[in-house]
Amino acid sequence: MSELQHEIGRRRTFAIISHPDAGKTTLTEKFLLYGGAIQTAGSVKGKATAKHAVSDWMELEKQRGISITSSVMQFEYDGYCINILDTPGHQDFSEDTYRTLMAADSVVMVIDAAKGIEAQTRKLFKVCARRHIPIFTFINKLDREARDPFELLDELEKEFGIGTYPVNWPIGCGVEFKGVFDRDKREILSFSDMHKGMNKIKPTPCDITDIEKMDELIGPYQRAELVDQIELLDGASFEFDLEKVRRGELSPVFFGSALMNFGIEVFLENFLKMTTSPLPRMSGETEVSPFDEEFSAFAFKIQANMNKNHRDRITFFRICSGKFERGADYYHVQAGKTVRLSQPQQMMAEERQIINEAYAGDIIGVFDPGIYSIGDTVCSAKKKVQFEGIPTFAPEHFSMIEQKDSLKRKQFVKGVEQIAQEGAIQIFHEPNTGMERVIVGVVGVLQFEVLEYRLKNEYNVDVIRNDLPYSYIRWIKNKGIDVKKLNLTSDTKWVQDFKGNNILIFTSEWNINWALEKNEGLILEDFSKD
Ligand code: G4P
Repeated sequence: MSELQHEIGRRRTFAIISHPDAGKTTLTEKFLLYGGAIQTAGSVKGKATAKHAVSDWMELEKQRGISITSSVMQFEYDGYCINILDTPGHQDFSEDTYRTLMAADSVVMVIDAAKGIEAQTRKLFKVCARRHIPIFTFINKLDREARDPFELLDELEKEFGIGTYPVNWPIGCGVEFKGVFDRDKREILSFSDMHKGMNKIKPTPCDITDIEKMDELIGPYQRAELVDQIELLDGASFEFDLEKVRRGELSPVFFGSALMNFGIEVFLENFLKMTTSPLPRMSGETEVSPFDEEFSAFAFKIQANMNKNHRDRITFFRICSGKFERGADYYHVQAGKTVRLSQPQQMMAEERQIINEAYAGDIIGVFDPGIYSIGDTVCSAKKKVQFEGIPTFAPEHFSMIEQKDSLKRKQFVKGVEQIAQEGAIQIFHEPNTGMERVIVGVVGVLQFEVLEYRLKNEYNVDVIRNDLPYSYIRWIKNKGIDVKKLNLTSDTKWVQDFKGNNILIFTSEWNINWALEKNEGLILEDFSKD
């Protein structure tokens, strides 16, 4: 096996998703601890503590205690090189999360055992299911009162329409939590005061029909309950099928407590065995193998001014094939130009590090003077591939933004254009007007606040914001159409994007139907459909 094959083969790249507060950050932190990437718990994020977050970059995030931007972390464990793509948990930032999912090969979904599926998890899950991304479920917080595990699995199956396979099973919860039973190995991993917070706990092999031994371990009441539950599971639940897991049809489920560092190692070990090395990606009709010697990558995320100490803009690329080498010439397909990816970096827990090489499956952040857009392909000159773009999500909220001080026009234009290029907002204008004021469209309203905050802090521009009542957007597909002649309701607005495409924004679906009925031949496209 060549070095290239060995390196790519040992990579695992996954996104971690959850509803806010389910324990995603705590779990990520424990993964990093196992990998030795960080030394102390609490260094990934300390919402209540003063410690800095690895994944929270902006002041605003710190103030609000939410993770707005996604970041990437790499660590080594048991011979594997693991890339975690953190996703923002706040529902307003779903678009950024969707893009992050495009760069992952599998997903770890963290669920709060007391709450089950929550709105945000539901939304994200649908995206994974559509893309057939393998999903691993970690049901967290068993050290607290939890819902019935059967009920939780039932909810997962019904809501998401996939099968579940509990790899282990909880024995009680809260103060009665005794540990988990491994269904395959038939052993108990014990959660006792003695074991709390310990990394390496030795599981106890046990025959659950051995009453004496079981009673000693977990007591007669819980023994009887466990025997019943395991019998029920073995008889009625889905069979384990690795192919189904890899097609995203069956989710392996694990129970544990991220806070108590319980069940993490079991999870990691199984997860690494069940997931695949980086998966191929499509360039038109051609499948690009990650093991291909020639380098190729696509941009899935752009982030400006991530850190006050490094005022810069970073574009994140997912490497799809081959090996990246610092200083080599690559080809930026969309621009048709040769580029050098400068200051290539990876996030290692709290630090950004300049890297000299990276392999398919890895994520690299490169310094971007403003040349890349989301979805762009970069590859070695010989390769000439172009990866499928990343879908744009239709904005659902619109606001008119103008600068307070007209002397700051230049900074205002630069700011909104750059932020739009990052994909955080979409910008439009009224036909025949310039950039004095723009209409901003976003998927989640919190992005308006982020925009205002960033314009002020990064571009020194104060803006006046007027929210508009529209919530639907449609692109007019008819070429050369005279939009002024269309028969539209008075509360339908005609705008253009900066490529000059004609767009209508509507206050209701009723108005969209009106436009279609009253204007024969009018073709409207909804970009949110994928
Ligand atoms: P998130 O990234 O998904 O938003 O969740 P995060 O890890 O920040 O966890 C949310 C809260 O839940 C935190 O408490 C965290 O300590 C707690 N938590 C996480 N995993 C477990 C677990 O397995 N058991 C229990 N009992 N609690 C857990 P917090 O008080 O909101 O924040 P902090 O002050 O501890 O940071």
